[in-house]
Amino acid sequence: MSPQTTSVTVGIVGAGPAGLMLSHLLQRSGIDAINIDTRTREEIENTHRAGILEHGSVRMLTDTGVSDRVLRDGYEHEGIELRFAGTGHRIDFADLVGESVWLYPQTDVFIDLADARGRDGGDVRFGVTDTSVADLTTATPKIRFTDSAGIEHELHCRYVVGADGSRSMCRQELPDEQRTFLRREYPFAWFGILTEAPPSAPELIYAHSEHGFALISQRTDALQRMYFQCDPETDAASWSDEQIWAELAKRTAGDGFELKQGPITEKTVLRFRSSVCEPMRFGNMFLAGDAAHTVPPTGAKGLNLAMMDVKVLHEVLERAVKGNEPGALDEYTPRALARVWKAQHFSYWMTSMLHRMPDASEFDVRRQIGELQSVVDSRAGRTYLAEAYTGWPEQG
Ligand code: PHB
Repeated sequence: MSPQTTSVTVGIVGAGPAGLMLSHLLQRSGIDAINIDTRTREEIENTHRAGILEHGSVRMLTDTGVSDRVLRDGYEHEGIELRFAGTGHRIDFADLVGESVWLYPQTDVFIDLADARGRDGGDVRFGVTDTSVADLTTATPKIRFTDSAGIEHELHCRYVVGADGSRSMCRQELPDEQRTFLRREYPFAWFGILTEAPPSAPELIYAHSEHGFALISQRTDALQRMYFQCDPETDAASWSDEQIWAELAKRTAGDGFELKQGPITEKTVLRFRSSVCEPMRFGNMFLAGDAAHTVPPTGAKGLNLAMMDVKVLHEVLERAVKGNEPGALDEYTPRALARVWKAQHFSYWMTSMLHRMPDASEFDVRRQIGELQSVVDSRAGRTYLAEAYTGWPEQG
């Protein structure tokens, strides 16, 4: 049986936050799009990722009518704490750059977007199989897949977007000689927990210690998210709650700080790396979000970069489709990558300043403390951190 064919202006592989945000923006511009994803909606909803939104990402959700739930259920944070050598130092975003971030988990961003697509009649196919793309350098690139009922489909698109995550199938379609895939591995991972406890602090705490990094984050008044640096081979299940609390306490100790403990309901080890694919385009296919680049979680930039990619991609697609200006598409890679590399640097800087390298000497640890001290003692240093963390102005 030949596949069922459908014509669509933009076919999007991926229905995570990047893919759904793009189809939402395109629909608002009167451009039709279809999302497909190999995962079910439930699977995506249960993927726990980072929880910090830049003000620009929040505005994309609220100003484009996705949802204003972030303003009700999210928590606005006007700063973070850097902890080192037993003392906490607040980085006051509101004072330094007049901006804030919002604690609002990525799963909630996904739920809001999926609900908005449903409400607006968006065409999103979850749980598909056998996805492939073809004819990417022609005027009619194609997406092929089998839907959850077992029916084969072929989408005849004008443009294809690969928003299919860090293990992107679409990215593999860029011929080796036409792309560079730059990577950096880190010799550690994060041990992440969810705990049913009240918040230990009103804002996030990024802690440096001779024992390694720890991050005290939150979710709600009754649920907290915390992480500590660990060996990538760590078996999360083999750690008892007592061992975890002892490790977190050691790394955050000082000036009377006390962690509020509760039952630990989730233990996972998150590996991390940096990668960038250049260019973010092949023929009439464009990559967005994790499909094109990944960052370590220390700067909380992953989802925010994906949102900014999509904002630029929507703008150039709109100019190409509605304004008959296909040359606009050439702007996508350089505009998106300018921000990506700034975020790569910021995430690398935060990571290397706060984590303990496996072979670190006493000198290395003391040098890191010197670096942290020079950031918190200087308004210029704090302002750099605040500007990067809350999100650079868009033209950058
Ligand atoms: C989180 O709450 O999951 C989180 C927050 C900040 C980060 C990373 C993760 O930098």
